[in-house]
Amino acid sequence: MKQFNNLTILAVDTSCDDTCIAILEIRSLKLEILSNIVSSQVKLHARYGGVYPTLAKREHQKNLVPILKTALKETNLLKKEEKRIRIGKLKEVLKKENYLFKKLTVFLNQYQKPKIDLITVTIGPGLEPCLWVGVNFAKALSYFWNLPIILINHIEAHLLANWLPPIRFDPQLPIANHQLLFPAVCLVVSGGHTQLILMKDFGKYKILGETRDDAAGECLDKVARILGLGYPGGPVIEEEAAQLPITNYQLPIELPRPMINQKNFDFSFSGLKTAVLYDFKNRLLRVRQSRKYIRAMAAEVQQAIVDVLINKTFRAAKEFNTKTIIIGGGVAANEKLRKQFKVQSLKSKVNFLVPPKEFCTDNAAMVGITAFFHYLKGEGRDWQKILVNANLRI
Ligand code: KG4
Ligand code: ZN
Repeated sequence: MKQFNNLTILAVDTSCDDTCIAILEIRSLKLEILSNIVSSQVKLHARYGGVYPTLAKREHQKNLVPILKTALKETNLLKKEEKRIRIGKLKEVLKKENYLFKKLTVFLNQYQKPKIDLITVTIGPGLEPCLWVGVNFAKALSYFWNLPIILINHIEAHLLANWLPPIRFDPQLPIANHQLLFPAVCLVVSGGHTQLILMKDFGKYKILGETRDDAAGECLDKVARILGLGYPGGPVIEEEAAQLPITNYQLPIELPRPMINQKNFDFSFSGLKTAVLYDFKNRLLRVRQSRKYIRAMAAEVQQAIVDVLINKTFRAAKEFNTKTIIIGGGVAANEKLRKQFKVQSLKSKVNFLVPPKEFCTDNAAMVGITAFFHYLKGEGRDWQKILVNANLRI
């Protein structure tokens, strides 16, 4: 394992509609998140009911430099130094990011190279135009500040978010307790992915199953749109479902639990959304516009998704005789899902790891911790010949 004293990591993620930058520091064997900024584009995309990649890309271009400045300021790493920099290959690295190039050169002309040791960035999976902005930005910084770069898979980052402090990071040896944890079954549930993964160790993954159509979060987003609840769907559906009165309720809705009885570990959620649409269309206008109906539907669709996820995940844990269940991704922020997974884990006598809610949805701290694990194995390369892969597999 690589030896080091102090290490400061700058992490970037622009895989979808959030512009994320984090700064992590490992000092005297203690890992700390010094800054973790997520600039959400929710308001912009809410107007369209979903994410528009070209719009998201433009926003990333606008956001990255101001967020970098804020992150460095928060960590006392932003130091003024007026100069005229030599552009060198900067223009070439950012040839497809004209706006970002202008903003970045102004920034680099005004500030010193900060005390950062390593840059890390998500290269996939995600929306290709969005990924490129973050990757080109990270490449430009890596080139200009002459720092090594580590390339990260967004899915692995969602899983390793479980090792972010203050919870599970063991400063002596972060990989120390792995005998107690592995093998593990991991579930990544986000807006773009629903995957069950067998994890034998850090870096050793095998996909057991995944969604054949919509991801769980995508299903919640589409259902929210049908119900007129806005975007993103997950949080509003959770909110509406929580307000459903439990007693004297007269409007039963029963949705399917797609593929729940099939022996494989794949998922399918597009039929669930269609079932919601049919039910919605077949209701009288007065019923479907009532709060009661919306709340009942929100609760039922949320439970249908949780039922399928729990059933398949615990079946995989049994079949592969795993010690731990690890979950991550935006949908793992759902309170009902977290509670029911926890209860089932206690019953099944397996460990259960879920990140704090703020680290379930997209963020760059999770990219930083993942890079740290890769760094310990000796990874770190120069900025040239880096490509994104929108369909990158774990
Ligand atoms: O991981 P994430 O931030 O981005 C992707 O990598 O896709 O996940 C976003 C997804 C969205 O579909 C959103 O509706 C869902 O996570 N989500 C939730 C909750 N918060 C976000 N779903 C259910 N309950 C929540 N509290
Ligand atoms: Zn994500």
